[in-house]
Amino acid sequence: MNEDKKLRVFSGVQPSGNLHLGNYLGAISQWVNMQEKYNCIFCVVDYHAITVKQDPEILRKKIIEIAKIYLASGIDLENSIIFQQSDIKEHTELAWILNTVARISDLNKMTQFKDKADGNQENVSVGLYDYPVLMAADIILYNTDVVPVGEDQLQHVELARDLAKRFNHNFDKVLRVPKAEIRKEGARIMGLDDPTKKMSKSATSELNYIALTDDPDKAAKKIMKASTDSDMEVKYDKEKKPGISNLLTIYSLLAGKEIKELEKEYSGKGYGDFKKGLAEVVKKFLIDFQEKYNAISDDEVKKLLKSGAEKIQPIAEDTILRVKKVIGVK
Ligand code: AMP
Ligand code: TRP
Repeated sequence: MNEDKKLRVFSGVQPSGNLHLGNYLGAISQWVNMQEKYNCIFCVVDYHAITVKQDPEILRKKIIEIAKIYLASGIDLENSIIFQQSDIKEHTELAWILNTVARISDLNKMTQFKDKADGNQENVSVGLYDYPVLMAADIILYNTDVVPVGEDQLQHVELARDLAKRFNHNFDKVLRVPKAEIRKEGARIMGLDDPTKKMSKSATSELNYIALTDDPDKAAKKIMKASTDSDMEVKYDKEKKPGISNLLTIYSLLAGKEIKELEKEYSGKGYGDFKKGLAEVVKKFLIDFQEKYNAISDDEVKKLLKSGAEKIQPIAEDTILRVKKVIGVK
C-alpha cells in the first residue's frame, strides 16, 4: 500500500517502573498487530515519566529498556518508527500552545490525576496535572488518526480529540482529530493479588504484576499464588469471579486460544490444574521474550532512537509551523 494512504498510529509508554503483562497485553501487543495496516510511530515518553520524581541514572536505563521491550515484542523497524520524546522539542512547544486552549475544567475531570494525587493534590507537580495536555501534543504533532492504548488512557485520548477540535474551531482547521482504539479483551488486566484493581507498575506488592523482565520461574510462582474466587469452577464471569476471569483473559491472549475453549479444556479440573497450565504458558512467553530482549545491545537501541527522531522531525516541524501561522506568531 502507498505509505501516504495509510492512516497514522501513535502510542507510547513511560520509562518508569516495571513494564508488566498489563502493558504488554493492553497496549504493546496490539501495536504489533497494527503495523502492516498503519503507518506507526511508537514513542518512549520520557517527559511524562518526570512528572513524578525519577532517579536520573535509572531513568537513563529505563529509556533504553522500553525501546528494547518494543523491539522484543515485535515492533519492526521496516514498518514502524521508534523514538524518544525529549529528542523532538516540538512536543513541549505544542503542549504550551495547547495549554492556552485547554481549560482548568478539562483537567479537573481527569480521573488518573485524582488517583495519582490521591488526596495530596497540593504537593504533586504542576506537570502531573498538565500531563494530559503534553499527551495531546504527542498525538497531534504527528497528524495521528488512531491511538491504541489500554482503557485507563481513554479519557486522555478523548481530551486530545477535544483539544484538536477546539483549536480548529478557534483558529483554522489545521489539526488532525485523533481517536482511541481499545482492544476488546485485555484492555484492563487486573492485579494478580487483587483482581478488583488494575495491574499496576506502581503496586506495592510484587505479587500484583508479572514484569516482562521477571525471572520466568518466579513469574510461574506468582501465577500459582494469584488470588482466585471461592468456588472451583474455571468459568469466565467478570462480576462474580473477577480472579479467574482475569487469569482466563491472560491465558487466552498469551496462548491464542478462545476463553470458551479454555473453559472446556479445564472443565471439572479445578483451579490448581488451570493455574499450572497458565504458569507454563507465562513461563514460556517470558523465556521467548527475554531471549529476544537480551539479544539487543544498548548501542543498537541508542542508534535507532536517534535515527527514528531524525525521520519524524520534519513531520513535527511541519505541524508546529502550521500552528504558529494560524495563531499569529509566524
Ligand atoms: P503506562 O504504564 O501507564 O505508561 O501505560 C502504558 C500502556 O499500557 C497504556 O496504553 C496503558 O493504557 C496500558 N496499561 C497499563 N496498565 C494496564 C493494565 N493493567 N491493563 C491493560 N493495559 C494497561
Ligand atoms: N500517558 C500514557 C500512559 O501513561 C503514555 C503516553 C504519553 C501516551 N503520550 C502518549 C500514550 C501518546 C499514547 C499516546 O500510559
